[in-house]
Amino acid sequence: MVRAFFYPESVAVVGASSNPQKIGYQILKNILDYGYRGKVFPVNIHEDEILGLHAYRRVSDIPVPVDLVVVAVPAAVVPEVLEDAGKKGVKAVAVISSGFKEVGRADLEERLVEIARKYGFRLLGPNIFGVAYTPNRLNATFGPRDVRPGKIALISQSGALGIALMGWTQTEEIGLSSIVSVGNKADVSDEDLLDFFATDDNTRVIVEYMEAVKDGRAFMDAARRNPKPIIVIKAGRSKRGAQAASSHTGSLAGSDLVYSGAFKQVGIIRAESVRDAFVMARALAELPEPAGDNIVIITNGGGIGVLATDAFEARGLDLYSGPDLVAFKKAMPDFGSFKNPVDITGMADPVMYMDALRIAQEHENMHAIALLYCETAVCDPEELAEGIIRTYNHKKPLVVGMVGGEKTERAIARLNEAGIPAYDSPEDAVRALHALYLWKEGKKKRQMSGSMRSS
Ligand code: ACO
Repeated sequence: MVRAFFYPESVAVVGASSNPQKIGYQILKNILDYGYRGKVFPVNIHEDEILGLHAYRRVSDIPVPVDLVVVAVPAAVVPEVLEDAGKKGVKAVAVISSGFKEVGRADLEERLVEIARKYGFRLLGPNIFGVAYTPNRLNATFGPRDVRPGKIALISQSGALGIALMGWTQTEEIGLSSIVSVGNKADVSDEDLLDFFATDDNTRVIVEYMEAVKDGRAFMDAARRNPKPIIVIKAGRSKRGAQAASSHTGSLAGSDLVYSGAFKQVGIIRAESVRDAFVMARALAELPEPAGDNIVIITNGGGIGVLATDAFEARGLDLYSGPDLVAFKKAMPDFGSFKNPVDITGMADPVMYMDALRIAQEHENMHAIALLYCETAVCDPEELAEGIIRTYNHKKPLVVGMVGGEKTERAIARLNEAGIPAYDSPEDAVRALHALYLWKEGKKKRQMSGSMRSS
């Protein structure tokens, strides 16, 4: 039902303008510049041409079918625009305009929903920054133009934060399949979007910034039937935060404990922060499920090895301590330590790292690998990154934590580009592996609670 927001064959922008200061101009420009291949129609009450395209006075004047309409005109005129679009038979309307329930105009918002129901189209928003879907090169937002394609779908109830995340994910080399701003959720709900991404082959992980759900039971049911990891950044933990959420999008944030309990029941992973959400999402988007609990740390620095060990323990995860660790002796100088963390010492070069990585990959009772690195002159980080890319066989989870300067930063970017989750701290690498175990557990809970409900 919401497919037309992601796979439209044609898009009209109502409120498109030749004035770059206007949101309607920016949305049209993003659609054109990001490379959308469908038909695009600017709609403006007094212009005949905008950005080189013929402009129409109203949607109903467009001589061919229109799938998606993006509306960026003041709230008071939105109902008449929707009436006209409804008569035209459009499938989906995204209302960018603010000035509805969030400012006490629930009546005006209700009017939009009535019109949508009357004509049978779906309504996203109002009070949103738009929608982007990278597989179709669709960027119908007024956020940054460039969105890095990838496997993570981002749903945001906050406009400004969502826009900021569009830019941030780009610089952090995090690939997205989609970004959806849901705003006041007058019609299209979290459940609708979870259902769409559940079967969307371009999406492997769903991340949602949420202040409140409208229908808790429906949301839980949608999560339960979703086969993919869902990570939620739930704002409004504190009393004051909950009040702020209420005036932001006009919804009730509810008790935080209730949310936490409900998320756990249906295997939703709760992120501690936006950054935390993407640390986890990156790993969940790329890595296979661990076959068991035995984790191996390979490091050239005792210090980061200890930090990672602490972090694993704090997260309740096990380091492998079996007899096969002796195999690592071959990959280190005499004074190295093959106890887990496997310390191949500050003398380690890329060759030693690759030997150690191969050993960890070969031993069946080692289930997941955290490869840690402190920048040294004897081990060039970029060379190391290339070695890891060549050697990693993608059969068990591997995360990389690298600490160092500019070259190390480039190495991290290179690994991420190649689909190997890499981070600039051992703690983030640990959290990334933790996410895989949380999801393994969450998936079981989801299956169990699903079968309990159906029996
Ligand atoms: N049909 C066609 N065109 C129309 C119509 C109509 N019925 N009514 C107005 N227009 C034209 C206008 O003439 C104008 O074109 P022009 O520049 O050529 O004159 C264009 O459409 C836009 O209309 P304006 O009246 O100029 O409205 P403006 O662009 O100033 O504001 C907007 C519209 C952006 C929707 C504003 O009302 C609004 O709601 N802003 C907030 C958006 C927002 O923040 N969304 C929330 C999430 S994002 C976040 O939180 C960061």
